[in-house]
Amino acid sequence: MVNLIPKPTQDSPDDLAWLTGWRSRSLHSEAITLPAEMYYSPYAYELEQTHIFGKYWYYVGHISQLAGAGSYFTVEIAQQPLVIVQNKVGELRAFYNICTHRAGPVALGSGKCQRLTCLYHAWSFDLEGNLRGMPDMEAAEGFDGAAHALTPVQVDRWGPFIFVNLDPTGEPLLVQLGELPEMFQRYQFDRWARVHSVDYWTDTNWKLYVENNAENYHEPTVHPSLIKYYNHITAEARYHYYLQKTPLGHAPGDQRFLDDPDLYIPGLTPEEMANISTMSFFPNFAWIVSPGWAIIYLIDPQGPVKTRVRWDWLVPDTEAAKSPDNLNPLIEYLDTIQQEDLKLLPEVQKRIQSMGYKPGRLSPTREMGTHLFQELIMNAITSA
Ligand code: FES
Ligand SMILES: [Fe+2]
Repeated sequence: MVNLIPKPTQDSPDDLAWLTGWRSRSLHSEAITLPAEMYYSPYAYELEQTHIFGKYWYYVGHISQLAGAGSYFTVEIAQQPLVIVQNKVGELRAFYNICTHRAGPVALGSGKCQRLTCLYHAWSFDLEGNLRGMPDMEAAEGFDGAAHALTPVQVDRWGPFIFVNLDPTGEPLLVQLGELPEMFQRYQFDRWARVHSVDYWTDTNWKLYVENNAENYHEPTVHPSLIKYYNHITAEARYHYYLQKTPLGHAPGDQRFLDDPDLYIPGLTPEEMANISTMSFFPNFAWIVSPGWAIIYLIDPQGPVKTRVRWDWLVPDTEAAKSPDNLNPLIEYLDTIQQEDLKLLPEVQKRIQSMGYKPGRLSPTREMGTHLFQELIMNAITSA
């Protein structure tokens, strides 16, 4: 049972002590975990919706989910309904998926259209969001169709990865990405094919998944098959990302591709050819990338204690790389790793919500990504 706390009011300032009492700790050696309320309080979730998912660029999908002019897909990440479309010349547009008549959906799922047509009373909008059709509205006085366009949202790409920003004054995506595009340019993500997608659901706060993904401290315990790599991991946490490198070899057959140029992306450095990179980009994008396969993560908060994690599998766009013989053992193995995490995280969620929970200390050398993300979150919601 979720321990819901009432939304704090100005009459009860003590209700906010967990928030106002938090102080930033810039050094990893001083890092302390977040207050319990951050993992279940509807108020904390609301603050994150506004000040994180309402301000930062966040990941919504892969370009292969679109197929030219008029194609679209919908998302409801952090419970904000959006539609992403390609306009007449194939440029990306994003809008709130909220009809300006009475809030019906202008699209559901994904597909292709000339106009976005509301599923409620059939108002229709062109691919730039302008209102073009509104049945039986001729007699409405002072009705200005131009004032009833769909509300646009900033949208941009990093290679095939599509991001949106709900803040119309938000800085460009490239600023938030920092050095990441340059660091990973040799991977040429536009040349990879999306071959498999899977949604995982977990009854945990979204940050538990993100924080788990941004540290390697849990790997030998939760993932016994990774033990032998633990002392060979290198990791750093900077700006808006955590980046970990693990020597290749921990998935069955994951070095097999080194013998076949059809199975890996050409042009990588010897170091890139020898490592798997695990990267988390604040707030909801992450990946595991090897020279021959990649999993792209979309972490989707769906309530204070409900999270969807979308995995999109990418491989080099060759028949050999896309073959089931190549893919299936990898998919099976990484699913096992994912299940190991998903088994543990609800146990943590339950304990954070118990009366016996107190914040703990973080490992300065293994959990710096967790620390960075916690600082980013708390700075965002407390400096607002
Ligand atoms: S709500 Fe969209 S047409 Fe009525
Ligand atoms: Fe894990």
